[in-house]
Amino acid sequence: MSWLDRVVGLLSLDLGIDLGTANTLVAVKGRGVVISEPSVVAVKKGTKQVIDGPTGLAVGDQAKVMLGKNPGNIDVIKPLKDGVIADLEITEHMLRYFIRKASGGRRIVPPRVVVAVPSGINEVEKGAVTNSTRKAGAREVFLLQEPMAAAIGAGLPVADPVGSMIVDIGGGTTEVAVISMVGIVNSESVRCAGDEIDQAIIKYLKSQYSVVIGENTAEQVKLTIGAAVAPADELRMPIKGRDLRTGLPHQLEVSSTEIAEAIRPQVQTIVGAIKMVLERTAPELASDLIERGITMAGGTSQLRGLADLIARETRLPVYVANDPMTCVARGCAALLEDLDALKQILEAGVQQ
Ligand SMILES: Nc1ncnc2c1ncn2[C@@H]1O[C@H](COP(=O)(O)OP(=O)(O)OP(=O)(O)O)[C@@H](O)[C@H]1O
Ligand SMILES: [Mg+2]
Repeated sequence: MSWLDRVVGLLSLDLGIDLGTANTLVAVKGRGVVISEPSVVAVKKGTKQVIDGPTGLAVGDQAKVMLGKNPGNIDVIKPLKDGVIADLEITEHMLRYFIRKASGGRRIVPPRVVVAVPSGINEVEKGAVTNSTRKAGAREVFLLQEPMAAAIGAGLPVADPVGSMIVDIGGGTTEVAVISMVGIVNSESVRCAGDEIDQAIIKYLKSQYSVVIGENTAEQVKLTIGAAVAPADELRMPIKGRDLRTGLPHQLEVSSTEIAEAIRPQVQTIVGAIKMVLERTAPELASDLIERGITMAGGTSQLRGLADLIARETRLPVYVANDPMTCVARGCAALLEDLDALKQILEAGVQQ
């Protein structure tokens, strides 16, 4: 390392960013996760101008509380959809805000950033992420495939000549990958995860009870009583929404059995993606999986009963990683500690 590199290193931060559909996390090299906020931005209606929240710009936590409660002159936007950027300019605003917040405004030299992207995104989408991150203030941008980042963050031996399976179930996408010798041997990405589960809950209440609820309420229902299969101990919960027939606020009670039934197609899609990758996995690697099992990361991996269901359907042991929602960001930051490993992984087929 030259003296110049060392000086630049002291003056700048290296950041790992998990730009997620539901949440954006920023980890600082050597310090861990410093930001974990919803990927939400509030703007003046019809513009790209971010409005002020209670304290500072309405981005992240300050914007999510406004979802579904905003007056007509404000748009509350989720700039990522299905794991990819749906609104470039808003994504840039959001990234700039988080990068500044993580840097604490102290650093003079812009940061070097590793961003995790879904393995299913195309070249145009990759270019969009790189450009947005650069414009948001990064000096250098590396894109890392999300399953690789998740596997590293989950502590899997990605460099060894053994097969490891990582399943990252987030808000917008489910990513399944078998990794061996720093390469993704086999993978599948489906645009079905926590958000689709929330939508299924909204649809069910509307068709079954003619009650309309918002996205935040649907997520609360999922977190409180949602389950991949109807649990032995029935859970119940009161839900407040608007009755479509009378137009008035209405409260009703629903059970976990009903919710499990309502979200079954989405759960089946997730299980199906895992099975598809297993079917395509070469015998030597498949035999590693019998011993090593499946490791899960991402918020939706914590859905009640999901790990058990996957274990039953695949007949493999299933583990949820420690701190599953931060694996991707921690994996990105870990690679910045070891630039040689980063280069090796990037050369092994991960882009740019
Ligand atoms: N305990 C839980 N049970 C079920 N779902 C959960 C739980 N905790 C969080 N979630 C869900 O996890 C999702 C967010 O997970 P995560 O932060 O990993 O997604 P993301 O990285 O933003 O999305 P993606 O990777 O698809 O772009 C949300 O849909 C949230 O409702
Ligand atoms: Mg994610």
